[in-house]
Amino acid sequence: MSWEERLARADLKTLWLLGHPVGHSLSPRIQNAALQALGAPWVYLAADLDPKNFEEAARGLGQLGAVGANVTVPFKERAWALCDELSDRARVMGACNVLSFVDGKIHGDNTDGVGWLRALELGVPDFYPRRALVLGAGGAARAILLALVEKGVPQIFILNRSFERANALKEQFSGLGATSITVTSLDRFPQLVSSGDLVVQTTSVGLDRLSSPVKLPLVWPKEVVLSELIYGEPTPLLKAVRERGAMVCDGLAMLVFQAAESLARWMNCSFEEIPWRVMGQAVGLMATPIFDGSMRGCGPTVEAIAFE
Ligand code: ATR
Repeated sequence: MSWEERLARADLKTLWLLGHPVGHSLSPRIQNAALQALGAPWVYLAADLDPKNFEEAARGLGQLGAVGANVTVPFKERAWALCDELSDRARVMGACNVLSFVDGKIHGDNTDGVGWLRALELGVPDFYPRRALVLGAGGAARAILLALVEKGVPQIFILNRSFERANALKEQFSGLGATSITVTSLDRFPQLVSSGDLVVQTTSVGLDRLSSPVKLPLVWPKEVVLSELIYGEPTPLLKAVRERGAMVCDGLAMLVFQAAESLARWMNCSFEEIPWRVMGQAVGLMATPIFDGSMRGCGPTVEAIAFE
């Protein structure tokens, strides 16, 4: 079905991105590539909402017969508060990035953590992190912690500027699984890095492409994977780690896989049925080193990493 044919259908259903701003979002490109590949009579559109209209607009979409919506900054917490029903993950997160409109009700979910984990599992196959260092303790860090705890990673260090926020996260997640969580300062990163096998950079430091939340490494243990949630132009940390020959994964992969997981919710199907390669291709993910196969054979092996 061509786009012209699709848009001319009277039974066309809609999916939305709700945010403010949304002008530079890659989500319409990612989602529409999948819809085209699947031949679904759906279209994905972005709405830049005036913050005062969020609830009214979201409820109105349900009334218009929309299938669902992704929610982005600054509305994720308000979306959570609006829902009639929440998934377990959304409940833990206190924020929703996916809404589904079903039988007059709004269901909320959160695919940020599970999307991030898919990115890691597919980008770095056969990797079972044993000790993860999470930089940051904001909303993004909460999504990563949920994914790491669900995955059963035995040990996590949270390194953050504010101990208060880091301790609140530790408290929330310590009861959820068998993971042991330790809070410490960003200054300790150089001593801790070689004892880990995964570093996840969730802070906003580096968005300016000048700063780094931790000292830039002179030496980086090759078996330690860096995952950073920022995407686009590489940050100084990502560049430094990549130059030292280690595997790096930036936030583009998380963006693609949270989108793929969102589509699986709307289509009520498994992740395996979603054309995630097509979604990745639409934004250049499949041409990046960890997805184009050029780093095969690099990266962590369970035997190479010693603990304690
Ligand atoms: P998000 O939802 O994207 O995670 P957030 O909740 O505002 O955004 O969290 C931002 C993270 O970046 C926090 O961990 C924050 O540290 P604090 O908890 O101490 O505020 C971190 N961050 C922001 N600016 C920082 C800076 N200049 N130095 C160190 N950490 C910083």
